[in-house]
Amino acid sequence: MSSGTGAALRLLAATVDAKAVAEIGTGTGVSGIHLLHGMRPDGVLTTVDSEPERQQFAREAFRAAGFAGNRARFIPGRALEVLPRLADGGYDLVFCDGDRLECLDYLAESLRLLRPGGLVCFEGVFADGRTVDSAAQPAEVQRLRELLRAVRESTALLPSLLPVGDGLLCAVKRA
Ligand SMILES: C[S@@+](CC[C@H](N)C(=O)[O-])C[C@H]1O[C@@H](n2cnc3c(N)ncnc32)[C@H](O)[C@@H]1O
Repeated sequence: MSSGTGAALRLLAATVDAKAVAEIGTGTGVSGIHLLHGMRPDGVLTTVDSEPERQQFAREAFRAAGFAGNRARFIPGRALEVLPRLADGGYDLVFCDGDRLECLDYLAESLRLLRPGGLVCFEGVFADGRTVDSAAQPAEVQRLRELLRAVRESTALLPSLLPVGDGLLCAVKRA
């Protein structure tokens, strides 16, 4: 993740005064640390990853960055099995950085998870420029194009595509 994307995530988490954030794709915890810095001091990051050993790495990275253990809830598992268990309207921000093939499902789940005025963000929607390249592209890039179209056309969302890093697609859930 680029430093610009990290800074944007901090800013966005602070802008929505985030107390509850859901993250799809814990990875090694880079984005989680940025989100935690922008969230309220009592905010909790719920972070999902199908690879538990990555979450263990992230847990240690959060601790090394100075965050108390109760600031993050780690849920191992595949996103589309875990997300339906999370509370409707219970989140201020959903950050999607998991499997690009599932991005449209993440959008649908995010609309359910977000409170009105909450924010959904998708990392890496430029796919190194392939999203706007007219040449034939693999399924994951086609899904990203469909995601961009769906977000743009949704009457439930107010979108903006931030040109930081590999493209950060953001959208506010309208009240
Ligand atoms: C690009 S990395 C995330 C990087 C992370 N946000 C960071 O900044 O360190 C994508 C992560 O998504 C996880 N992942 C891939 N498919 C998934 C799925 N279907 N459900 C949950 N996690 C998934 C991978 O294990 C990987 O850790």
